[in-house]
Amino acid sequence: MTVSKLAAIAAVLSVPGALASPYFAGQYRANAQQLLTAYDYVVVGGGAAGLTVANRLSEDSDVTVLVIEAGVLDANEDIVTIPGLAGGAIGTKYDWNLTYTVSESLGGRNVSLPQGKVVGGSTKLNRMVFDRGSKSDYDRWATLGNKGWSWDTLLPYFKKNEKFTPPSDAIVAEYNVTFDATAHGTSGNMHSTYSPFFWPTTKNIVAAIKELNIGISNDQANGNAIGGYFCPHNQDPVSVTRSSAREAYYNKVTTRKNLHLITGRQVTRIITKKTSSAVKVTGVEFAASEKAARETVSVKKEAILAAGAIHTPQILQLSGIGDSATLSSIKVSKVVDLPGVGQNFHDHVLLAVVNVISAPLTGNNLTSNATFAAEARAQYDNQKTGPLSSPTGDFLAFLPLSIYSKESTSIHAKAVDQDGATFLPAGTPAEVIKGYKSQQKVLNDKLSSKDSAALEFIWADGVFVLGLQHPYSRGSVKASSASVFDAPIADAGFLRNPLDVTLLAEGVRFARTIAATSAIAPLQPFEVVPGVNVTSDADLEQFIRSSASTLFHPAGSCKMGKREEGGVVDGQLKVYGVQGLRVVDASVIPLLPASHTMTTVYAIAERAADIIKGVCK
Ligand SMILES: Cc1cc2nc3c(=O)[nH]c(=O)nc-3n(C[C@H](O)[C@H](O)[C@H](O)COP(=O)(O)OP(=O)(O)OC[C@H]3O[C@@H](n4cnc5c(N)ncnc54)[C@H](O)[C@@H]3O)c2cc1C
Ligand SMILES: *[C@@H]1O[C@H](CO)[C@@H](O)[C@H](O)[C@H]1NC(C)=O
Ligand SMILES: *[C@@H]1O[C@H](CO)[C@@H](O)[C@H](O)[C@H]1NC(C)=O
Ligand SMILES: *[C@@H]1O[C@H](CO)[C@@H](O)[C@H](O)[C@H]1NC(C)=O
Ligand SMILES: *[C@@H]1O[C@H](CO)[C@@H](O)[C@H](O)[C@H]1NC(C)=O
Ligand SMILES: *[C@@H]1O[C@H](CO)[C@@H](O)[C@H](O)[C@H]1NC(C)=O
Ligand SMILES: *[C@@H]1O[C@H](CO)[C@@H](O)[C@H](O)[C@H]1NC(C)=O
Repeated sequence: MTVSKLAAIAAVLSVPGALASPYFAGQYRANAQQLLTAYDYVVVGGGAAGLTVANRLSEDSDVTVLVIEAGVLDANEDIVTIPGLAGGAIGTKYDWNLTYTVSESLGGRNVSLPQGKVVGGSTKLNRMVFDRGSKSDYDRWATLGNKGWSWDTLLPYFKKNEKFTPPSDAIVAEYNVTFDATAHGTSGNMHSTYSPFFWPTTKNIVAAIKELNIGISNDQANGNAIGGYFCPHNQDPVSVTRSSAREAYYNKVTTRKNLHLITGRQVTRIITKKTSSAVKVTGVEFAASEKAARETVSVKKEAILAAGAIHTPQILQLSGIGDSATLSSIKVSKVVDLPGVGQNFHDHVLLAVVNVISAPLTGNNLTSNATFAAEARAQYDNQKTGPLSSPTGDFLAFLPLSIYSKESTSIHAKAVDQDGATFLPAGTPAEVIKGYKSQQKVLNDKLSSKDSAALEFIWADGVFVLGLQHPYSRGSVKASSASVFDAPIADAGFLRNPLDVTLLAEGVRFARTIAATSAIAPLQPFEVVPGVNVTSDADLEQFIRSSASTLFHPAGSCKMGKREEGGVVDGQLKVYGVQGLRVVDASVIPLLPASHTMTTVYAIAERAADIIKGVCK
């Protein structure tokens, strides 16, 4: 049983390793152009947000832009190119190999957190799910006081990012995939389309969702990402390869003389100057390694932080921008007292319920049968279809609590009665607590609404990967020392608030309801994790705390919001108390949407570029 259990988990959570070619072992290449001593804009981090903003700002040839990226340029290895190998760069030199801190709420475990360290950032490592949240997910940002940030104002930027190609006739005929052309962009930089191949048990899950009378959204992209939906991926429909931030936003503009990229350099701090009236950014300091000499570049207009939700707050703290307690713990002198830096940190919790199934063709055939794998490879190389053309996750379900749980009324009542602040980390600054209370009200208001999904269900040949979409728990990110080369202490706060356990326990029960449909019956599902005898609240809690991990969507650690509520940036994404400094990455997300995070980060970054240019409506 253990072997099949592990095989089943491996099928969904890891990659067909047999097919992954060894990654490029060569040296990094920095841009050949000579660095200038000063740039109008210096972008810190060349991932999803950083490359988007750098591309847009450098459209104006009079403006000079430098991107400083810690990682290197990849060499188009299969693991960062072929959709069916998505995730294969996890644990390679392209991964920061981060680990969340040991947590009591996870039974004393630590959870590893991959993050891209490569030009393209985490968009080179990710599973290529290209979806948006629902209207209500973004409208709640406005409710929290972020003027101008809502579904309606973000939609043009979701579209601006996207170059959508409809599903192939063959896949439409086989699966009845529908789409809403009006919701998509067709002239953006980022390819999005549906895989030309779905693993066949996708048919069973689609039928099961219908059998349970759960609606299938016409298209997740139009603000109604509720129920089941067919999910596009960021892949080029012709070459059937990954479209990462690098392909979409950097490769096409390497000839721009006003855009420079330097790789293999870690930004060590933002240099500021204090005048009688203000704190102003004057430069950015970086280095190739802990021991290497510090280099500096001057900033004429702005430094733009895009180092991701873990490293951006670290860089602010190393630059003296943060809460006093953290700054004194790392012996950095205070430049701006900003208690929210690193707080409000949250992530989607992942929980796997594993059934062994019996089917003519599953992902296991790829990992367990070398002949089959070789045939699949030939089919991909020659016809651009077959198993390697899909990163999996071609059909997802995002379910409101009231759809997947009979207890939604009592859970809602419990949530309303709770003082969630008691579950915040010890020492949480007062402003942050105030902001959390506002968030808690918004979360409660939407907890049992039909227009807000509480849980994602990803099906992979019998494995249900559950993703908690609107967690109540919060953690923090803190620099561990004054050196950027020491990994920051990141704590996602997973399951600290018991409501999150309840929301997941109901999800485990619903996974069983799905597995018990007549649509799944032909697959003879047999639950091996946690096992059918794990049914009581207490046993489910024990299972959840001992096996939950991350769905890889860290966010919120430099929240956009009111300063008196622990906000780090304002609605213009400007860091409070500093002139010439913005944050444009996943850190600014005040509350995670019920969606994977990449499209949201691109939309934020596209909008940020227009804000910086002064052309944002
Ligand atoms: C394994 C995995 C799977 C995922 N799956 C999906 C998915 O299927 N769909 C989806 O929508 N989202 C997915 N995501 C999430 C998505 O990729 C991220 O939300 C998104 O990339 C975040 O963008 P960002 O710009 O904030 O950070 P990133 O894209 O991570 O970019 C940050 C960049 O900053 C660089 N950097 C960090 N520190 C420094 C420094 N000190 N100096 C210079 N550079 C620095 C990093 O090397 C990196 O290149 C996944 C993420 C991971 C890790
Ligand atoms: C991540 O870990 C792998 C395996 O140990 C290692 O090869 C790789 O170099 C590490 N990544 C970085 C950026 O150090
Ligand atoms: C995480 O936990 C494992 C198992 O206890 C341990 O071996 C490892 O060193 C820990 N990693 C970190 C980074 O703390
Ligand atoms: C295809 O999907 C549409 C929209 O969801 C639905 O109305 C229709 O009945 C479906 N057709 C089949 C054959 O399932
Ligand atoms: C896939 O594997 C299953 C189980 O081993 C086997 O019965 C089936 O024939 C395989 N299918 C193909 C196409 O190789
Ligand atoms: C392995 O794959 C080959 C090619 O698809 C197939 O003919 C064979 O039956 C498979 N073997 C098993 C054990 O499934
Ligand atoms: C469930 O059954 C397994 C295998 O018999 C056993 O190891 C486990 O302790 C049981 N769990 C519970 C909660 O009863």
